[in-house]
Amino acid sequence: MYILAIESSCDDTSAAVLRDGILLSNVTASQAVHEEYGGVVPELASRAHQQNIVPVVDAAIKRAGITKEDLNAIAFTRGPGLMGSLLVGVSFAKGMARSLGIPMIDVNHLHGHVLAHFIRESEEDNDQPKFPYLCLLVSGGNSQIVKVNSYKDMEILGQTIDDAAGEAIDKCSKVMGLGYPGGPIIDKLARQGNPDAYQFAKPNIQGYDYSFSGLKTSFLYNLRDWIKDDPDFIEHHKEDLAASLEKTIVDILMKKLRKAVKDTGIKQVAVAGGVSANNGLRNAFRDHAKRYGWKIFIPKFSYTTDNAAMIGITGYFKYLDGDFASIDLPAYARIQTSQCSNTNQPMLNYKPANSQ
Ligand code: KG4
Repeated sequence: MYILAIESSCDDTSAAVLRDGILLSNVTASQAVHEEYGGVVPELASRAHQQNIVPVVDAAIKRAGITKEDLNAIAFTRGPGLMGSLLVGVSFAKGMARSLGIPMIDVNHLHGHVLAHFIRESEEDNDQPKFPYLCLLVSGGNSQIVKVNSYKDMEILGQTIDDAAGEAIDKCSKVMGLGYPGGPIIDKLARQGNPDAYQFAKPNIQGYDYSFSGLKTSFLYNLRDWIKDDPDFIEHHKEDLAASLEKTIVDILMKKLRKAVKDTGIKQVAVAGGVSANNGLRNAFRDHAKRYGWKIFIPKFSYTTDNAAMIGITGYFKYLDGDFASIDLPAYARIQTSQCSNTNQPMLNYKPANSQ
């Protein structure tokens, strides 16, 4: 059984093909056009999706060694995301499914990130989490601790009350005059810096919720003071600044996660989303596994940022449940409870990193 999956929620056009839940191909076209604007420009994103979607889907089908007539279903990201971007993928999936006379499966982008740990590249690839597990979902638009009870039953234990972790990293990188997106740049610089060089504000809020806006402000104000004394402060200290910023963010994320593990007694802990590519965070996970006996799940780098493989595996589980989408299903930019009839609690709103 072959599923074609399409992801176009933000600024990556991606297509994947799975055979019986095993990934055969995953092709992604990223959009460099946003770099000069320091954030994703929605109008440019939709235009680029429009240009990329046919070649990306063609390449995914070809790499899988099949033809489009072999497909049994098409899974697509319905939302949340940028409406103009989503419409390209949703409309393409509808047209293609119609023309081939096969069913469609709508996928929640955030469920895709959380279930990325079930992507299998071969029959032997069997290291998947068992339910229930905890997932730290950290991206440009989300910072959540999710309790995953099953493929379709997910509970948000905590979430950011303001900015997401990725957003904070990107904004701090922007005030330092580094490029976009800031995450990979900060990650690289941090490897050469001293993580204890500077202290930035950490939030003090109840429960499992996160907050990153105070850290962002503290970073900005400190920087402003230091630049007064030394106009080249950033250039002289960018490695230490990046390392200290990264450490602060990782500490904030891990503290609440430790609390969630302690309170729920669930020691299977996964990390997902764009920020899960961060080496400091990945090392903190490995360290916690050793120190506290967690069984951890860290995605391959290619499955941290937006990709169709995660949409495909989520679509596969829905296919097995016979959970198909009707042709008149609209895309959604933000999620409503009524649009998640098969989840106990919806995954929350999505705000793409630095969208203008
Ligand atoms: O999940 P994702 O690809 O998409 C959206 O949120 O739309 O996440 C993107 C975020 C950006 O904030 C980016 O800076 C961050 O993930 N990111 C990283 C790294 N790679 C990407 N943050 C820290 N370290 C990285 N290596």
